[in-house]
Amino acid sequence: MCGIVGYVGARPALSIVLDGLRRLEYRGYDSAGVAMIGDGALLTCKRAGKLGNLEKALTEGAADDVTAGIALGTTGIGHTRWATHGGPTDRNAHPHRSTNGRVAVIHNGIIENFARLRAELEAAGVEFVSDTDTECAAHLLEHELASVRAEETARSASPSGGARGAEPSAGLAAAMRRVCQRLEGAFTLLAVDVDTPDVVVGARRNSPLVVGRGQGENYLASDVSAFIEHTRDAVELGQDQVVLITPDRIEITDFDGNEAIGKDFHVDWDASAAEKGGYDYFMLKEIAEQPRAVADTLRGRLGEAGELMLDEMRITEQDLRDVDKIFIVACGTAYHAGLVAKYAIEHWTRIPCEVELASEFRYRDPVLDRSTLVVAISQSGETMDTLMALRHAKEQKARVLAICNTNGSTIPRESDAVLYTHAGPEVAVASTKAFLTQLVACYLVGLHLAQVRGVKYADEVGAVLTQLQAMPAAIEQVLETMEPVRELGRELARARSVLFIGRHVGYPVALEGALKLKELAYMHAEGFAAGELKHGPIALIDEGCPVICVVPSPVGRAVLHDKVMSNIQEVRARGARTIVIAERGDEAVRPYADHLIEVPPTPTLLTPLVTTVPLQVLACEIATARGHDVDQPRNLAKSVTVE
Ligand code: G6P
Repeated sequence: MCGIVGYVGARPALSIVLDGLRRLEYRGYDSAGVAMIGDGALLTCKRAGKLGNLEKALTEGAADDVTAGIALGTTGIGHTRWATHGGPTDRNAHPHRSTNGRVAVIHNGIIENFARLRAELEAAGVEFVSDTDTECAAHLLEHELASVRAEETARSASPSGGARGAEPSAGLAAAMRRVCQRLEGAFTLLAVDVDTPDVVVGARRNSPLVVGRGQGENYLASDVSAFIEHTRDAVELGQDQVVLITPDRIEITDFDGNEAIGKDFHVDWDASAAEKGGYDYFMLKEIAEQPRAVADTLRGRLGEAGELMLDEMRITEQDLRDVDKIFIVACGTAYHAGLVAKYAIEHWTRIPCEVELASEFRYRDPVLDRSTLVVAISQSGETMDTLMALRHAKEQKARVLAICNTNGSTIPRESDAVLYTHAGPEVAVASTKAFLTQLVACYLVGLHLAQVRGVKYADEVGAVLTQLQAMPAAIEQVLETMEPVRELGRELARARSVLFIGRHVGYPVALEGALKLKELAYMHAEGFAAGELKHGPIALIDEGCPVICVVPSPVGRAVLHDKVMSNIQEVRARGARTIVIAERGDEAVRPYADHLIEVPPTPTLLTPLVTTVPLQVLACEIATARGHDVDQPRNLAKSVTVE
């Protein structure tokens, strides 16, 4: 949600900012705008709709002063807005300027006390031109900047303080700190001020912001993909910090003005990883990348003594041995990964494990203490619901372990231990490769716990690891046989509704298959536990209703397999058209499948790594056949930074 880019350096800022915004499009937005300081003036341009509208406005206005000035700027900020307060109109698009027009602000998040602030500002005579919460910040900034400068002038005029005036560029950062102290809620703010033309100031509380360190130029952005083509050196900001960038300085303080140190990190993927690479959609590329992503997430996990290794570990082994309850918190697709994890973690560790939607977790007062381990799963590392659940858990003294795909993001930074999924940048809004790597990470966490607690010997852990190592090749095999699935997708594009059923780890796969279809094809789709059908959902089945059945392996858990077979017959008896995903060689299922999708034989707990893939392909194909953009589905955002 909302993409933010800031640049200061020697090159024209406009194209850098627009390119950065394009790379952040995946976050989801409905209007866009830029503010540049060029030729001694602060100029803005903003438009409702996609970036193309903004670019068109900039091109069409090429001859006017605004656009000419914008083109000259070497300091600028840009924003893609996902509307919260006020509709997606030109007027509500960011940047917002203060009354005197000398500062411009962009914002991601929600300023929760904005109504009070707005009333106060209006009472003081400020006229608002938008419906946004952000505009308050622009007016407050103008006001605080005037105070900071007046105080500075008074100080330098006084006999004792005159000798050593503050650095003029510091005024904007000081004013920003004061503004932040007045704001409640979640926010990342960037601001530029015409009187300090080589400065961009940023502030963050709860919402994402990273610094890109260049040569004679610096960047600020919601995530590194915005500046990855210019620099892979980045600086992570902490909670409640203000950062000032100039072409050759990065200065970080807390909201009280105390100096703070950002954490440097190097991004291990480059701009090409964030390109479509010949595919029509990022989603297609990301589905195809899954074997590699899974292999990368598994790589280098064994230490010298055969122990499993996470990426960051600030929990002692004794603490892990003391864990007596696990909660997994996550949203959307990551929640489905958590549902699969429960089966594996409980089976391997014998520790009770609950999976909760992060948005529900803290409001129901869960029972947590220092022997509870909370596992937060998040691709972006910025999902506000998950972050808030994590913070609640920490307040109750629970240990928090993050499974995350985004280096430098908030959730891993605030966790006691981190396991990164090495999926690489995931751009399509609907998650695919991140999901598979989250599954792998969950398996690793389960095995790690089992090993540390002595529930599994190293050779048993090693045996599961060997099975996991075989999964990239198995996923590759699935991908190679997807043509009939695509054909089926084109046929199903006319369906009114599609149902998904599964048992055991096939149940979360059914939920994930249905979610993909909803997200991408805007079609009614629902996943059910196959055994639950008879308790209600079976009433939905009528003649020709497509039911996608995820069948467990007949080897090992034969009883599960047979139960799902019965459920398939129940829906067939009521006219359903059955699309069956089953293990290759499972001949028993063939007579009951109107359409059979075979996947390679896989140990039961690991089957979601193969059974999910055809469902991703199917949803993608149905959506494309219905004429939808699968990378940016309507109303959705990739990184949901509001609660
Ligand atoms: C959004 C996305 C989903 C994603 C969910 C959780 O709703 O559209 O695809 O699964 O957020 O995101 P996270 O970054 O926390 O995994």
